[in-house]
Amino acid sequence: MRVAPHTLRLGREALHRGPLILVNQAHPVRVAADGRTLDATCRRQLDALLDACGGANGRIRLVSGYRSREEQTRIYDTSAAEHGLAFTQQYVARPGESEHQTGLAVDVGEERPDVDFIRPDFPDTGVCGAFRRQAAAYGFVQRYQADKTPITQIACEPWHFRYVGAPHAAIMEARGLCLEEYTAFLAGYAAADPYVHLLEDGREAHLYHVPADERAGADGVTVVPVLGGETCEVSGNNVDGYVVTCLRERRRA
Ligand code: DAL
Ligand code: ZN
Repeated sequence: MRVAPHTLRLGREALHRGPLILVNQAHPVRVAADGRTLDATCRRQLDALLDACGGANGRIRLVSGYRSREEQTRIYDTSAAEHGLAFTQQYVARPGESEHQTGLAVDVGEERPDVDFIRPDFPDTGVCGAFRRQAAAYGFVQRYQADKTPITQIACEPWHFRYVGAPHAAIMEARGLCLEEYTAFLAGYAAADPYVHLLEDGREAHLYHVPADERAGADGVTVVPVLGGETCEVSGNNVDGYVVTCLRERRRA
């Protein structure tokens, strides 16, 4: 169904919701996940990815999905007691700063009798390799890469996948951007001059950023222009604005 061009009036809470929210030490979780479980789209796409790569039927284990703040606190404290603070700070986000609290992140591990809860094995080979190669097509990225540690402040985690949505995951992978970098990248594109990404099926994704309206009198409400298309989605970025994603038929030259 076509989405006609329109505008949305979004309040402050919307800034902290959606598949593109950046969650890290500087930008903690601001809104608890709906239903205190994995986000429904993330769950559906994970199941589809597991089916597609042959990881269903127990070959890949969902080691950790949604965590409450209390659970993250318990994991952090237990890890600190067992492994020390230096290890814990590399592999466990501080309570309030974990993507797991958003319901948009999963830890996956190769199924075996002794799966490590904090650092599950997730090799590049076999069924796990197939999962990794197909992840972006289903909207997932490996959130913590070795060369991005200075930016993310988290060590390499081959098992932690974050749902951001399909066009975004493919762009991040192709451009080698972590979510901190991708958030900044998108902020450079406005509705009048969106970033255009060609999809494999020939359609185009038009992406742009709308800064949150911080002016006095705006009451935290931002008027977001939606260009229209086959589908349009708006996500807060949890930092300073909204990202609009419109899928459109390819423009004829
Ligand atoms: N392992 C990641 C950083 C977390 O605890 O959210
Ligand atoms: Zn994780």
